[in-house]
Amino acid sequence: MKKSLVISNVGRLVTMEPKKGRQGRLGVIEDAVLLVEGEHIAWFGTRSQWMKRRRNVADEFDVAGGVVTPGLIDCHTHLVHAGSRQNEFLLRSYGKTYQEIAKAGGGIMSTVRDTRKTSYDDLYRISSERADEFFLRGTLAVEVKTGYGLDVATELKMLDVIRTLKDNHPIRFFATFLGAHVVPAEYKKKRKDYVRLIIEKMMPRVARLELCKFCDVFVEDGAFTSDEARAIAKAAAKFGMRMRLHVDQFGNGKGAELASELKAVSADHLDHVSDKGIEALRRSGTVAVVLPGATFFTGGKHYAPARKMIDKGVKVAVSTDYNPGTHPSVDLITTATIAVTQMGLTLDEAWAGITVNAAASLGIASDCGTISQGKRADLVVFDAPDEYYPMYRYGRNLAAAVVKKGRAQWLDEYYNV
Ligand code: NIG
Ligand code: FE
Repeated sequence: MKKSLVISNVGRLVTMEPKKGRQGRLGVIEDAVLLVEGEHIAWFGTRSQWMKRRRNVADEFDVAGGVVTPGLIDCHTHLVHAGSRQNEFLLRSYGKTYQEIAKAGGGIMSTVRDTRKTSYDDLYRISSERADEFFLRGTLAVEVKTGYGLDVATELKMLDVIRTLKDNHPIRFFATFLGAHVVPAEYKKKRKDYVRLIIEKMMPRVARLELCKFCDVFVEDGAFTSDEARAIAKAAAKFGMRMRLHVDQFGNGKGAELASELKAVSADHLDHVSDKGIEALRRSGTVAVVLPGATFFTGGKHYAPARKMIDKGVKVAVSTDYNPGTHPSVDLITTATIAVTQMGLTLDEAWAGITVNAAASLGIASDCGTISQGKRADLVVFDAPDEYYPMYRYGRNLAAAVVKKGRAQWLDEYYNV
């Protein structure tokens, strides 16, 4: 018999599936009860429906009238890295741009240097503490990219850390190989050799680990060209990895068109996507992952035209892009608030962006992202009067409890168990 657990006294159950008998665009059920069996959702409904079918369930978790939503899903992060780039924030405050700093040897290469010289044990400890920060805000599934190694040994060290996190941390992790983040300094004059190193040396080793479902390329001036991305995508397909791409972040490089041509699962950033690019994404069904926190933190003036993309029928997910350079924040709710105020999303669309659409971008929509029977019971309880309040009070962490792997816990007790 599977262990069962009743989540009771739910003020508002935000199913993310609007239906008859539920409220609004997020399909809310008021005064609800939810039954978990094993690790999955077995039943949910109103308290009065529950009273009629009530049976003996040993474990009950009373959420005191809180708002229950699907666990938040952050589908684009650079969670594993050593060091800090606070000094660059200071420089930017004096007028230097992200790209000027990168050209002068800072930026991604600075984090690469720090990550290379950090031991596996230290990198694991730092990353695990950072993973806790995500978890304590209700983020229960996180995509993590490599890309701060850029040599075989350090890329594998990062993947080792991700594997150990996967085995030991309550968050569900999805690894993406980003050997093509930038051309590392030692290959600056022989970039072809670096692309060859990625394809011939890194990818076979990465594939043997059976850890990465995805492969990413940063396509931008100063990073990789579309043709280089095509060559890497071809190799990725051979190894069974789907593409997710960093595109059109600082300028329009026809990146959305490229993502669509390569049948990428997602095209990420898109601050400078054109109407043609939007149309290409719609045609290929590629999810647009917008990262408003990165635009905000680098002082960019162009936010991705998410409103337009949604209106044109593109699926839009919202993610933190947590990384030490362009967005050193794990706060997905605040990121969603920026998507609302700067990109014109409705609050309902922002909720979809950090749950169901983020799940779609990771190919896991059939098993999480909404509250429906049979899906994983990965849930967050917000101590809030309704589901819009956390984005309204952005910056304040209102995640009070989570349900994960058939267990419920108050987050203020997280470090005591
Ligand atoms: O998503 N655009 C490229 N990569 C990251 C930045 C990484 C960094 O600056 O360390 C991004 O913004
Ligand atoms: Fe990124």
